[in-house]
Amino acid sequence: MARNATNRLLQKAKKLKKDEFYTQLSDIERELVYYKKHFRNKVVYCNTDDPRVSNFYRYFALNFKELGLKKVIASCYRGQKRDLFNQDEFERGFYYEYTGRDEEKIIPSLDDVKFFKGDGDFRSAESIKLLKQSDIVVTNPPFSLFREFIAQLIKYDKKFLVIANINAITYKEIFKLIKDNKIWLGINFGRGISGFIVPEHYELYGTEARIDSSGKRIISPNNALWLTNLDNYKRHEDIVLTKKYYGNEKDYPKYDNYDAINVDKTKDIPLDYDGYMGVPITFLHKYNPDQFEIVKFRKGNDGKDLSINGKCPYFRILIKNKRIQTETVKSAKK
Ligand SMILES: C[S@@+](CC[C@H](N)C(=O)[O-])C[C@H]1O[C@@H](n2cnc3c(N)ncnc32)[C@H](O)[C@@H]1O
Repeated sequence: MARNATNRLLQKAKKLKKDEFYTQLSDIERELVYYKKHFRNKVVYCNTDDPRVSNFYRYFALNFKELGLKKVIASCYRGQKRDLFNQDEFERGFYYEYTGRDEEKIIPSLDDVKFFKGDGDFRSAESIKLLKQSDIVVTNPPFSLFREFIAQLIKYDKKFLVIANINAITYKEIFKLIKDNKIWLGINFGRGISGFIVPEHYELYGTEARIDSSGKRIISPNNALWLTNLDNYKRHEDIVLTKKYYGNEKDYPKYDNYDAINVDKTKDIPLDYDGYMGVPITFLHKYNPDQFEIVKFRKGNDGKDLSINGKCPYFRILIKNKRIQTETVKSAKK
């Protein structure tokens, strides 16, 4: 119930295009720990981040030397808030650049930032100019503009690590990038991302929303994840398969509209099936492209959702085991 309530809150935010969910430093640290080697001598751009309050900017400024960074840039859109309790509105966006010099600020003020001529939209020419100078974009972008945000990063051929909502995976454009192994999921998801700070005017629902010890309002939606094109260890680890298809065929019914078997849980993927298999979307958290190939998403040959005896399981991804040996299948069939 509480989870539904917080998910509804995110839906509402999407509708209203409020997009005001701020990322906590602890959640950033918990993910970034897996990517340190990628940052040496790089320029990082946090392009939906008010440098005065963003924990993304703060993370990179605080860990500047340890990561061996060249520069971190944080820029924000005009409508952003000075802090979560006080609002200030500007016509123009602004940005701050940190290169590790003593006189630069870990927490800059309005006197320290440089104002854009325009509103600081991540799609604006001024922001794109900063993007072009950068190597890696790390942020939590506005949910309502997620497709455009990723499309721009792909267009400018940038490395990135960003927070997304699980629904984003089901967007046709995003799924295609995952299928083609151009982008993949990060390490933490669901409860691994502890929650987002929301402004004062958000109502808190249920027990998954709380006020922390410093008075910040936190919601824990449980459907956030990281998307990236920076390599991580998880995509090189095989899923350990223990189940068998042959002898248990009834547990793996075939779809009405595609020549594939349905597998309800990733852990139940059989080790002896060399055809197509439909798996839940959570498979992507464990996906190793050397072990499996992603073939298709959601739809059968007739263009309709995959179904079993007329019933559609929730979003299935069609995969095929790349490692399976013909010999394994032959002996399993005996
Ligand atoms: C989900 S919040 C995250 C904020 C910050 N990146 C963080 O993680 O704490 C998305 C932010 O994007 C900002 N935003 C909305 N539209 C934008 C745009 N077109 N260009 C740049 N930023 C935008 C919002 O004001 C909001 O602060």
